[in-house]
Amino acid sequence: MYKIIFNRPIAYKVKHMRVKAPFVAWKRKPGNFVIVISEENGERIPLTIVDSNPNDGTIDLIYQEVGTSTYRMGRKKEGEDIYRIVGPLGKPTHIEKFGTVVAIGGGVGIAPLFPIAKGMMEAGNRVVTILGARTKKLIILEKEMRDISDDLRVWTDDGSYGKKGLVTHALQELIEEGLRPDLVIAIGPTIMMKFVAKMTKENGIKTLVSLNPIMVDGTGMCGACRVIVGGKVKFACVDGPEFDGHLVDYDNLILRLKAYREYERESLERFARFYPQLRSYIFGGEK
Ligand code: NAD
Ligand code: FES
Repeated sequence: MYKIIFNRPIAYKVKHMRVKAPFVAWKRKPGNFVIVISEENGERIPLTIVDSNPNDGTIDLIYQEVGTSTYRMGRKKEGEDIYRIVGPLGKPTHIEKFGTVVAIGGGVGIAPLFPIAKGMMEAGNRVVTILGARTKKLIILEKEMRDISDDLRVWTDDGSYGKKGLVTHALQELIEEGLRPDLVIAIGPTIMMKFVAKMTKENGIKTLVSLNPIMVDGTGMCGACRVIVGGKVKFACVDGPEFDGHLVDYDNLILRLKAYREYERESLERFARFYPQLRSYIFGGEK
């Protein structure tokens, strides 16, 4: 059992949980993730480790409430337990001094971006950060990202904060200003990573993306997380989750991510019948 230190909202349907997991806290590196099983017989949820404190043995996780398991986890309180945490898993990010690194985070993808951008800053890179979200209230970790960035720009789809537009518009602006990044790291919705990678490919900029396919075991045994990279099948949990953004078959990943959508909807409907007070929260849009 893993004790919850806190589990609090940081944006609409986005929660920040700090949990005691000393062995994970000691071993994890930027880019690693864990599989969280919130309660006995619960679903296995893959989550990137956003930060850790080896001294007090805690790890920080940020998750979006999207399905029954994450809604259930979102109801857990300080002092309660998480049933199992497996990890650290996945290949850590390759961190070195590249020069100028542009870190692009879309929505809740800002959470897995943070430890990587921080690692790049600590390795002596100049970090230029682009944060994008649908609206102001969905921007997360702005202060934390600002602290580790030489330059940070916020863009929102509706223009409620920062500039109005998508993260690709922000990248276009940087390129037009004459910036020649040595590396772009993009994490967010698959469609966002697809279009960032298209733009960087056209501009000859090396690009890393972090994929989040459906995962089950997280150890390379079940095949659930298979993705196509450079025409070859890879398992995101052991070969990734980071890959060369120019080689990923994004359309295949988007199709695979939709495979269980109907079952997920039915499961949420059943959950909402048990918790009618949560119905409008579960099925509502951002406030
Ligand atoms: P969202 O849909 O609100 O998009 C966030 C930002 O991405 C937008 O504000 C925009 O700037 C950019 N974006 C979206 N579509 C784009 C397009 N077609 N072209 C260019 N830019 C585009 O994001 P959200 O709801 O916070 O994110 C949820 C998604 O992120 C889920 O699908 C989730 O699975 C995924 N996610 C991915 C990772 C990962 O490791 N890759 C981690 C967490 C979440
Ligand atoms: Fe099973 Fe990757 S999650 S092989």
